[in-house]
Amino acid sequence: MLADKDRIFTNLYGFQSPGLEAAKKRGNWNGTKRILELGPEGIVDVMKKSGLRGRGGAGFPTGLKWSFMPKEVKERPHYLVVNADESEPGTCKDRDILRHDPHTLVEGCLIASFAMRAHAAYIYVRGEFIREREALQRAVDEAYEARLIGKNNIHGWDFDLYVHHGAGAYICGEETALLESLEGKKGQPRLKPPFPANMGLYGCPTTVNNVESIAVAPEILRRGAEWFAGIGRPNNTGTKVFCISGHVNKPCNVEEAMGIPLRELIDKHAGGVRGGWDNLLAVIPGGASVPLLPKSVCDDVLMDFDSLKNVQSGLGTAAVIVMDKSTDVVKAIQRLAYFYKHESCGQCTPCREGTGWMWRVMTRMVKGDAKVEEIDLLQEVTKEVEGHTICALGDAAAWPIQGLIRHFRPELERRIAEYRGAKMAAE
Ligand SMILES: Cc1cc2nc3c(=O)[nH]c(=O)nc-3n(C[C@H](O)[C@H](O)[C@H](O)COP(=O)(O)O)c2cc1C
Ligand code: SF4
Repeated sequence: MLADKDRIFTNLYGFQSPGLEAAKKRGNWNGTKRILELGPEGIVDVMKKSGLRGRGGAGFPTGLKWSFMPKEVKERPHYLVVNADESEPGTCKDRDILRHDPHTLVEGCLIASFAMRAHAAYIYVRGEFIREREALQRAVDEAYEARLIGKNNIHGWDFDLYVHHGAGAYICGEETALLESLEGKKGQPRLKPPFPANMGLYGCPTTVNNVESIAVAPEILRRGAEWFAGIGRPNNTGTKVFCISGHVNKPCNVEEAMGIPLRELIDKHAGGVRGGWDNLLAVIPGGASVPLLPKSVCDDVLMDFDSLKNVQSGLGTAAVIVMDKSTDVVKAIQRLAYFYKHESCGQCTPCREGTGWMWRVMTRMVKGDAKVEEIDLLQEVTKEVEGHTICALGDAAAWPIQGLIRHFRPELERRIAEYRGAKMAAE
């Protein structure tokens, strides 16, 4: 279990004020100038050594991503863009950082922008996050007023920070769709390459990072790479905010060490599974888009990128959705299929057509109104969608269904047989 002294988000639950004075007492903005004195290369080096992997879902190493930015600013300015779109079902961690611990993010924006030679950063906030946006804007205003950021600030790096809000579309969380939306256009993912580090916001070098990835940076730089790398497991280091929802006694967000056993996470922090551990049916361990895991795997799986990949799932956003035995698991996955169909931007054929097709078949599977062969056909179609689209929404739509077929095929077959039996009896 993570020791209190190792927590980065010490106001995650909002027990104290999110304001500047309280944030400073918690340690934010402490020695920021000394951090900047490391220079851009020095900062990127610490971030690389810390082993931090992006907290937005894909787990790409943060220091390495920062190092992709050009080392010299030429005619095009550099930008940092923070992804606060947080729309992955089950995920609600960035929200608590924005409303309760916003100075961790504001300070992180200054440091990360300096490391990437950017004088401006944008935070793109999910449209539905009204109060969160207000809380964040208050923190930004306070930082300007105290001359922590802005022109001629006390840190010696001119820096402007803008809070921008979206209109509530899941696809605008995809980094290039986010950039399109920020530019005032329809939020549709761009073809890559070129990647944002070369051609991002307004055609300029840009890095897009998740809220948590940026908000943990100041504390890593204050305490040192070794401290962060010493928590968790090799290649899966540091602390992580987990969001635990569904059939648990006490749903919560909690900052824990990477690699904590799933069972310990649920038992110690979320009051256990409703009705006890043996009443567990399955868990989606990393937000709606990763394949679910049956109880047998949940018994001893560890919560980190590599462990979950080894069991054919993923850490994703670390949103743990718990389903007890009362769950209609086929209906649950069918509902997710509807979500992806609804949120597809429709640009590419496999996703536009495939998400609707998968949802319609899943809808019949709920009742059992299907042929057994259609289970294989459904699996085949998920494979045709996966990896054949412009952005990862196609994969996100395919994976939950693949997980269902992998672990609950007998349940699908049972429903089909039952439906057929009832139909024949009625004839
Ligand atoms: C459909 C879709 C939605 C996404 N939504 C989010 C989101 O809400 N927040 C986020 O940080 N990343 C989201 N991502 C991932 C981003 O594209 C990007 O990888 C991430 O912001 C990079 O930050 P990181 O390197 O700090 O993890 C989404 C990706 C896809 C394909
Ligand atoms: S995969 Fe789906 S959401 Fe992504 S670009 Fe293609 S149609 Fe749009």
